[in-house]
Amino acid sequence: PQVRMYNWTIVDKDGNPDGVYKPMMMINGQFPGPMMEVNEGDTVIVNVKNSAKNATGIHWHGLLQNGTNFMDGVGGVTQCPIAPGGSFQYNFTVAGQQGTYYYHAHQGVQMLSGLVGPLVIHNVNESKTSTDPYSTDRVILLQDWYHDPAEGLLRDSLSPGNENSPIPNGALINGMNKVDCAQHPNRTCDTSQTLLPSMDMMAGAYHRLRFINAGGFAWFQVAIDDHLRLLVHEVDGTPVKQFQEADITLSPGQRYSVTFATDQAGFDFTEYWLRARMIEGCFADPKLPDNGVSEAKMIMRYVMPAGMGGPEPSPAAGNSTRSNSTATVSSQALPTSTNSLVDYAMQCKDMTARNKYTPVPALPAPAIADHSWYFRVNMAIGDWRLERGFMNQSSFRSDLKQPTLHRLIDGLASGNDSFSVAGKDAAIMDAAFHPDHELVLSHDRIETVDIILQNVDEGNHPFHLHGMPLWVLGQGHGYFPGYEALNLKPGGKGLLDPANNTVVANPLRRDTVTLEGFGWTLLRFVADNPGVWLFHCHMVWHAEAGMGLQVVTRLRDLRGWTVPDANRKLCEASPEVLSSGA
Ligand code: C2O
Ligand code: CU
Repeated sequence: PQVRMYNWTIVDKDGNPDGVYKPMMMINGQFPGPMMEVNEGDTVIVNVKNSAKNATGIHWHGLLQNGTNFMDGVGGVTQCPIAPGGSFQYNFTVAGQQGTYYYHAHQGVQMLSGLVGPLVIHNVNESKTSTDPYSTDRVILLQDWYHDPAEGLLRDSLSPGNENSPIPNGALINGMNKVDCAQHPNRTCDTSQTLLPSMDMMAGAYHRLRFINAGGFAWFQVAIDDHLRLLVHEVDGTPVKQFQEADITLSPGQRYSVTFATDQAGFDFTEYWLRARMIEGCFADPKLPDNGVSEAKMIMRYVMPAGMGGPEPSPAAGNSTRSNSTATVSSQALPTSTNSLVDYAMQCKDMTARNKYTPVPALPAPAIADHSWYFRVNMAIGDWRLERGFMNQSSFRSDLKQPTLHRLIDGLASGNDSFSVAGKDAAIMDAAFHPDHELVLSHDRIETVDIILQNVDEGNHPFHLHGMPLWVLGQGHGYFPGYEALNLKPGGKGLLDPANNTVVANPLRRDTVTLEGFGWTLLRFVADNPGVWLFHCHMVWHAEAGMGLQVVTRLRDLRGWTVPDANRKLCEASPEVLSSGA
């Protein structure tokens, strides 16, 4: 194992990734943020200096942070935000995980201002789940993109009378796209230095693509023209038995790895579109005017293998998140391939709802849950005519100057056990409601917990749990049919395979799972990672409107914890400063 050290300065900077200028936040002036590539077992140290005008914090999406809750990066939950002028060192070990992840700001909607980047964890065996050894390994970072400043959009979306979340103006692939400035007459727009994303792919070889939906709101469906064999190998960091798909659907927060062959048209210089379409029906009210830009496209260019007289092949083994374009702005040739993206049947369900993905190696789920929590999920107009996100009757609002983890540790030290009274039995309403509308599930020891999400409105919600992976035991439309109907008996024989009455040992495990409109989702996890973990919808407008709750785990083992000095120090900034940008 190695120590991977990164020094990041967060700055405010105007950018025009697709031509249209807007105020952005960047890491070391880069967008997307720097590629982090580590091996399983490595220690990651990121020194973050905040030179921007707003407070911030960085979350490592999908990394479990086992034993390092203080490094989870969630303002108001695990830390005070990093004030302007302040700094903080994230320091954690990446153990027991591999695959495709990303990082993003977890303060307000700063991820929409550009604070995102890919994080890949390599494993010595990673290519062995593939029967086709691949010669290149690349990240395809997908983002919806808003032309208005994110802060203003957030203020508007949380204002009284506002019922619709803002709709993105376009999409980016690896931070790139190119608009027609004539279509944006009221914006500052310049595409003279703007390229469409492109990637060179050695012809006649296999390639791995790691798709990441790092956007805030939109669902993406991705396909490559004329390449209909995409073999899925990884779902949110879980290696799976390879499974063929023609297109990949990702909710915000989800990742999939595929391999495919550049086996079309002989060994010719040929170009194809990779298309990433935002599925508007999953996030936009159909009554809203179509904003006309729902697709981002990347040029995938075949190049000759080395030794055959063509250009050198692309860099191997995932060291290129940026496309390695060889074209100049004026001469960027456009593919003429025809759209293969025809299947919209899946719409806003996870791909895992249509097909069964089998984790390799098997990751057995415990047969019986100790608790089963039922949540009614919706967006609704709450107090002060504000549209809020609700789980049962609770809408989450974090207190940025008093992170839950600090209050918990201080509370336990002073004998205040208000957190530990919750979760004593499996009934619905014993989750604690705190005065500031927090819904907290708490567990004394390592326990197995089921979460039943019941969606009572038409919108879809991709739910993401920090700290512990989720087994997906079931998803469907309508009302949760009950354990019996699913052959799952919480107090009885447990997780049964209907066919032969044996324990289902290997359901898919991932970290971001869809709750479809008017549907249900049943999730199971082992609450073994001590600390406070956010569970929330990963559509930023819903999350900021309070669609989330906190899970407090292993209270018993938190009694000896103290808040590190560096974390205490973050909280010394004034409340106004800490909540800036949120
Ligand atoms: Cu990707 Cu709570 O976040
Ligand atoms: Cu949502």
